[in-house]
This record gives sequence, structure tokens and C-alpha cells, in this order.
Amino acid sequence: MSEIVIKAEGLAKTYRIGFFRKKVVALRNSTFDVRQGEVFGLVGPNGAGKTTTIKILTGLVRPDKGQATLLGKPVGTPQGRRQLGYLPEGPYFHEYLNVKELLDLHGSLCGMGRAERDKRADELIERVGLTHALGRPLRKFSKGMLQRAGLACALIHDPRLIILDEPKTGLDPIGRAEISALIAELKQEGKSVFFASHILPDVERLCDRVAVMVKGRVVDVGPLDKLLDARVLSVEMVVEGLDPSLQAEFEAMGVSWSSISPERVLLEATDAKVGQQAAARVLSSGAALRELKERHESLEDLFLREVGENS
Ligand SMILES: Nc1ncnc2c1ncn2[C@@H]1O[C@H](COP(=O)(O)OP(=O)(O)OP(=O)(O)O)[C@@H](O)[C@H]1O
Ligand SMILES: [Mg+2]
Repeated sequence: MSEIVIKAEGLAKTYRIGFFRKKVVALRNSTFDVRQGEVFGLVGPNGAGKTTTIKILTGLVRPDKGQATLLGKPVGTPQGRRQLGYLPEGPYFHEYLNVKELLDLHGSLCGMGRAERDKRADELIERVGLTHALGRPLRKFSKGMLQRAGLACALIHDPRLIILDEPKTGLDPIGRAEISALIAELKQEGKSVFFASHILPDVERLCDRVAVMVKGRVVDVGPLDKLLDARVLSVEMVVEGLDPSLQAEFEAMGVSWSSISPERVLLEATDAKVGQQAAARVLSSGAALRELKERHESLEDLFLREVGENS
């Protein structure tokens, strides 16, 4: 079993707001761990406690209960943080710096020598697609450009563990694809990546394991193929040249019928067996089966199910 790089055990946090110190429970009992080399996704609805979890892991917020370690060291200690790269939600920078100066500053705060940080900054600026904006101060950056600068900052000291809070916020489709590629590359380099995201198809594609958080609790954690129901939820078929007089027969089998053009019909069966029967009937009628797709549970289905059950 590989080394555990993040360990969160029974984390709880209640914020107090306003003059009357009204309680807001952000985390109730959050437990999970992340292993070396994993890409781990934290998903949950707005206000579920993802950012609070990340702030505890990065030492910005102290938990009321529970404990957490980063690379075997208690969170909030310099040893725990040295190998950590962190992209906060909505990063905020010294706005008069340009991106090169920003990276230089962060590199020197991490104890890197001048030549090393110069080389690394140039590589990262290229890697996050900001070369064209080298001469521009950060206050003139767009939201997506700031996000890219934040990501470069998180990576300047070549950390072993990278924690990203909504890394794709504000990015256009090209930027989002680039971040996915970057996360995949970091994994290839043997780094561990922990990120919170609302973009479920990305989490599905990129993550080795996922934790679903609802109302301050981790309600599900594991590899997606273990979490998702493997059963076929529905079967969709696009059929050409199907005799309209067969509609009642298909509907009696439990198959829905929708015309998509004068020649084409979309048939949808709610389980695999009915799907097979319908496909056989299509072929025996002499019509052509143009597409057949089985739909399995997606992370989005699981997410909606967990949120529904836990609210
Ligand atoms: N500094 C704070 N003071 C008071 N309450 C807070 C503070 N930060 C977060 N909260 C509350 O804690 C709860 C969890 O917030 P958190 O930011 O951790 O959620 P999240 O899962 O990151 O949500 P989102 O998807 O919107 O980013 C929310 O009810 C929020 O209002
Ligand atoms: Mg958040």
C-alpha cells in the first residue's frame, strides 16, 4: 500500500458569525485519506464544506475536533507545508506585480535560489499559457488568467502534493482542457493531487478516488467503479425506417418512442433486458439500428442521489 499523503480524521468545524456569534456548522465529521500518486476529487453541493476542509488541510483554519496530517506531519506546521502546492478558491495577489515577479516572490518564499526560480517560472508561465501576458500587471488580468497565475504559483517549488480548490473556476473550455491535461501530467510525474470541483465529468475522468461531501460529512468515498452502480440504467437506440404502426407494440414492451426526423426514431428502454428485446424487434422488422447506447450511473447521478438522501 502506498504512503498516505493526506489523512483527515473526524474533522469538525463550526464558524461563529455576527454580533450574536450565530453558529454555522461547516464540517461535522469528515474522514478520508489520500495516497501517494493519487488524483483525489472532493465533490459536494455549495456550502458542503469542501473549502473548509481544504483550509484545514492547508493550515488556514483550525478544526474544532479531529486531526489531519499532510505527508505524515500535522497540518499547520512548516514541515507539513513545505512539499505542498495550494491553489485557493478565487486567488488574490499583489496586483502591481506581473506574473514573473509573482512567481519569483513565491519561489523565494519557498527558499528557492534565483537561477532555479527563474528557470522554473519561465517553464510554468509557458505551461499555464501566460507567455503573452508577461508584461502586464496582475490587476489587468482576467479571471481565468488569474486562475492560471495561481496555478503556476502553486507549482513553483515543484511540490509533491498539490491541493486545488475549484481549479477550473473562470476558465474557458480551452483553459479547462489545459487544466485537465496538467493534472494528468502531474499524476504522470508521480505527484498526488487533491482537488474540489463542481465539474463532475472531469472528476469522473481524472480521479482515482472521489469523496462526496454533503452538509459537512463525507457520505461516500472510493474509486468511482466501486461507488457507481454498475447496472444499466437505460438503453437508447436510434432506428431508421421503423414502421410507425409498431409504436404501440414497442410501448407495450416498456419502450418509449420519440420521432427525431421523418425517418428516425429514438427508442428508450428502462433496463438492459427490455433493451435487448427491443433491438431484436427492430432488426426483425427490417429497420436499421443506427446507434445503441447503454447508460450506466454517472457521478452526476450518484451526486444527485447522495444529495437527495442526505438533505
Ligand atoms: N469564514 C466563514 N465564516 C462563517 N461561515 C463560513 C465561513 N466559511 C464558510 N462558512 C460556512 O461554512 C459552510 C461550508 O462552506 P465551504 O466554503 O466550506 O463550502 P464549499 O463546499 O466549499 O462550497 P462551494 O461549493 O460553494 O465552494 C457554509 O455554510 C458557509 O456559509
Ligand atoms: Mg468552496
